[in-house]
Amino acid sequence: MAGTLVPGVAEVLADEHASPLFASHRATGVHRLSTLCGSVVPGATATLSDPAQLGRLARRVADDPGQWLSLVRYDQGRRWYHCLARDEACEIWLLSWLPGQHTGFHDHGTSAGAFTIASGVLRERAAPDGRPEQPGRSLLPGAVRSFGPGYVHDVRNESARPAVSVHAYSPPLSSMRRYAVMSGRLQLTGEDWEW
Ligand SMILES: [Fe+2]
Repeated sequence: MAGTLVPGVAEVLADEHASPLFASHRATGVHRLSTLCGSVVPGATATLSDPAQLGRLARRVADDPGQWLSLVRYDQGRRWYHCLARDEACEIWLLSWLPGQHTGFHDHGTSAGAFTIASGVLRERAAPDGRPEQPGRSLLPGAVRSFGPGYVHDVRNESARPAVSVHAYSPPLSSMRRYAVMSGRLQLTGEDWEW
């Protein structure tokens, strides 16, 4: 997502393509978006530091495809992504994956996160302690992966069909470091600021 500035909450809420789920929050803006997070995570205020909570938030959005299905696009040139909502506590992204598209190894700065499969099949490869593991099991619709700050992984669509996933991060992403694998270990190759 290098070079793509995440729109502010007001812009997201004013986006004519915004889904009804979030359009319903236009009148009161940021605080009502926090209410969305809080409706899934009672008591959530400044941050949602529990990755499991973020997983439930992502799952709640994914379970309501009527709210985002019309927004999904596919791009042969790069992975497609769309910020559904963002406030001071968290942000929610909708991503699509054509066959063969992948993230490469990356972290999420100081943010905790979670993602869930809405349709299709993805596969994750984590890299604890700087060493890539073997690829994990295929992640089918409904699967949720949650992680704390500093987690490094590569996510890819190895299937023959497109996939769609929903991602939640808290606090909102502010930087992301990218890694290459050299001699079985991760080597930092760059850092992106402001998605
Ligand atoms: Fe990631």
